[in-house]
Amino acid sequence: MIVAKTLQEFLQAREALSNGNVGFVPTMGALHQGHISLVEHSVEKCKYTVVSIFVNPTQFNNQNDLATYPRTLEADCALLEKSGVDLVFAPGVEDIYPSPDERVFDLGGLDSCGEGPRTPGHFNGVAQVVTRLFDIVKPQFAFFGQKDFQQVAIVKHFTKKLGYGIEIVQCPTLREEDGLAKSSRNTLLTPAQREAAPHIYECIKTAPELMDKMSVAEAVKHLQERINQNSELEVEYIEMVDASTLKPVEKWSDAQEIQLWCAVYARPVRLIDNVKVK
Ligand code: PAJ
Repeated sequence: MIVAKTLQEFLQAREALSNGNVGFVPTMGALHQGHISLVEHSVEKCKYTVVSIFVNPTQFNNQNDLATYPRTLEADCALLEKSGVDLVFAPGVEDIYPSPDERVFDLGGLDSCGEGPRTPGHFNGVAQVVTRLFDIVKPQFAFFGQKDFQQVAIVKHFTKKLGYGIEIVQCPTLREEDGLAKSSRNTLLTPAQREAAPHIYECIKTAPELMDKMSVAEAVKHLQERINQNSELEVEYIEMVDASTLKPVEKWSDAQEIQLWCAVYARPVRLIDNVKVK
């Protein structure tokens, strides 16, 4: 496995992978089994697997979050090597943004609810870094987790719209045994919060059963109240959205496929999760 820490090193190493298809897994490092599950999908599907580790400043709207984001390159590379990765790209900010990126992307309105309004500029920053990485890595396939449901929908949108010809593969959310979605933020939870956090998935996974019993608004209220009953947790939002337009639905019959997504505070940590409702 080669670890390229500059653009030049990467481009040189990338040349050696030109005789087969390349799967790409973009990450911000601090890797856990959730990330590794994406790598495994790529290793299975593609001749070569490239992983990037880059904490992208343009997608953070909180400078403290950016400064405190865990950076664990050595441990990350050890995990990746065991998983069969061929090439790691761990560039500096100057490699990705030689000058400030002022591009504003058309995200097709997919950022108008959910995380969009709560984290202004976040998805534009994701589009900036992912398009830049696609241009450098030139993969045939790219792997994203359903854990970030809105992100993968937005990535699919601009990949198609900009004509990249890259197949975006959406991989299922990997969870802890108790149901909590794996996330690097889980390590920031206090023991009491960590014990409380599986309550989020326990509640939201019951959403499909609520369809026969109550309206969408009642279901949202019911789930919100159930999660908030745990004193360690505080719901920021729960929304039921059309899985293709990502717009909130008012009635269960409003969309063919409905996804529930939510953000919940175990302060100061903010956890997100989602489940398919129908
Ligand atoms: P990061 O949070 O490091 O996540 C990298 C990838 O791992 C994303 O596609 C995310 O959805 C996936 N992932 C995280 N936890 C997962 C889990 N429990 N199960 C399955 N997949 C999981 O997402 C980003 O980085 C950045 O926004 C990035 C796309 C790299 C752009 O900077």
